[in-house]
Parts: sequence; structure tokens; C-alpha cells
Amino acid sequence: MERKRIVSGMRPTGRLHLGHVHGALNNWRSLQEDYQCFYFIADWHALTSEYEHPEIIKESINDILIDWIAIGLNPEESVIFVQSGIKEHAELHLILSMISPLSWLERNPTYKEQLKEVAQRNLYTYGFLGYPVLQAADILMYKAHGVPVGEDQSAHLELTREIARRFNHFYSNVFPLPETLLTPEAKILGTDRRKMSNSYGNAIFISDSEEIVTTTVADMITDPQRARRPDPGRPDFCNVFTFHELYTDKEKVKEIDEGCRSASIGCVECKQMMASSLNEALEPLREKRKELEANPRIIENIIDEGNKKARKIARDTMEEVREVVKI
Ligand code: TRP
Ligand code: SF4
Repeated sequence: MERKRIVSGMRPTGRLHLGHVHGALNNWRSLQEDYQCFYFIADWHALTSEYEHPEIIKESINDILIDWIAIGLNPEESVIFVQSGIKEHAELHLILSMISPLSWLERNPTYKEQLKEVAQRNLYTYGFLGYPVLQAADILMYKAHGVPVGEDQSAHLELTREIARRFNHFYSNVFPLPETLLTPEAKILGTDRRKMSNSYGNAIFISDSEEIVTTTVADMITDPQRARRPDPGRPDFCNVFTFHELYTDKEKVKEIDEGCRSASIGCVECKQMMASSLNEALEPLREKRKELEANPRIIENIIDEGNKKARKIARDTMEEVREVVKI
């Protein structure tokens, strides 16, 4: 039986960190067991905000693809591609833009929020307003059954369904309405206890070396109430402990939990143990990254193949679309 299809993308605006791993990639990897997955680099979406300094896009694409493969996205099973390699996305975006009411786009909560929050860039552009229309094109192109995304993307998925409904209503029932497959939020925070993000300088990157991970972890903020070494700590309020729960053996986690509460272990030691668990988990990814960096052809081939498979479906969809739109 044909497996159900899912589609998801990531904007190439910097290196991937553990927030991406726990907020998306681990889930993407396991979805491969049950779905036919289409995972792509949303480079045109990145351009909506990075248009003044697009260098970051090019730099990030290869690096992100290396991380994806290192972490276990499997190009034999999944279609891994780059959005701008499939020009049909631009054509579908254009056609969908004709039927997307301005009011829907202007009231999009993500849009309003970003305009307010992102002060260092001018986002009052036509392209940025149309961001969710391009996203709808990405998803509908492959007639996706579902889209694995975080909560921050729910409004965009709702818009995708509204646009699909409108298209189907005007022309013909071409697009199935895609479901939102909500990824649970990453429990881990950045080193300063804010959300992990490239722009806060609080991230641990997949590609960080052992030394960098160790020094970054040493700087992490722990339970703020454990100000001095003899104070007992509260693992439930400590981000370092959350990492232990993900990366350290269960037995040892129990010891740390008790040691923290009774102040028999200190934060310095606790962080050293955490860094070593984390480094152990990242080591195989570093190995794989090295191999892929040494042979750039591997990633090139993955994208050539992935783009080919994606393009084939995109062409079929566009034929159908042009026919019903009578263009
Ligand atoms: N907007 C998504 C994000 O910022 C990226 C994205 C673009 C996407 N096109 C998509 C996600 C299609 C899912 C499906 O995370
Ligand atoms: Fe956090 Fe560990 Fe310090 Fe406890 S001992 S507060 S778990 S870093």
C-alpha cells in the first residue's frame, strides 16, 4: 500500500542546534517509519527575511543537509530536496496568490507578531506578506496528508487549508486538506534559560566540537535558587537536569537527582557529567559530518536525486492545476 505522504521544511538561516533536534528532527526521523516523507530546505522562505544579506542562506544549506543526514534522515526512504530547485513552487505560489484574500494574510498572527518583534529588518514587503501562500504551495504541491510542525506554525497550516478549500471550491477538487501533525515543544532551553535560538547566542549546535560543548555547558545557568555550593538544588527547575534526562543513563540520572537535592554534588561537577553524556551522543554525528564534509559529492547527489523525485510530482500537480485554472 502507498504510504501516506508528509511534507515539512526548514529555513536555512544558520546552523542547526539542539532545539531543532528535539523540536523537529528526532520526530522527522521517526516519521520515516510510517510515512513517505518530503523534507526540504525552504531557501525562498529564508529570503523573505534575509534578502539584504543572503550569504547566510547559501552557507547554511549545505551545513543543514549534512546535519540532516548525520542525524538519520534517510535519502533512500525520504525525498530530500531544495525548494528553489523546483521552480513549480513559484508558479503554484503565484496562482494561489490570486485567490488568497489580503485580509487573511494581514490578520495572520505570525505575520503581525514578526512585524512587531523583528526590529532590525524591514519586513514590510510583498514577499513577506505572502510567506504563508508560498508555504501553502510547498505543501499542496505534494498533496500532503500531514505536515509535522511546531505550534508556532499552526496558523500557517490553517491558512494552507483555507487556501486549498478556496481553490477546490473555485476550480476542482485538486488538493486534499493537510493535517497539522503537531510536534511536542522541545523541553530543553538555551544556556541562559530562554528558548534556544541562533539569535540569542544561547545555543548548542550539532556541529559544535567536544571542547565547545564542554565550555558552553559549563556556562549554563542552573537552578537560580542554588546560589552557593552548600544550597540544595531543584532538578525540576534546572535546564542542565533536563539535558541529563535526555542524554544520561537512567541510573545515573537518579543519583544526580538525589545528589542535587541533598547538595552532595555541585553544579560544576553535574555539568561536567552532562557535557560528557552529550558529547558521547554527538560523537557519532560528528564522525558522520566529517565523512560528508570530506565528500561533498554525497550531498550533491542526494539533492540531485531528491530534486528529481520532487520535480516529477510537482510537474504532475502543475499540469492538473493549469488545466483546472484553464491557463
Ligand atoms: N515556515 C516554516 C518554518 O519557519 C518553514 C516552512 C516553509 C515549512 N514551507 C513549509 C514547514 C512547508 C512545513 C511545510 O518553520
Ligand atoms: Fe542543576 Fe545539576 Fe546544579 Fe542540580 S546540581 S542545580 S541539576 S546543575
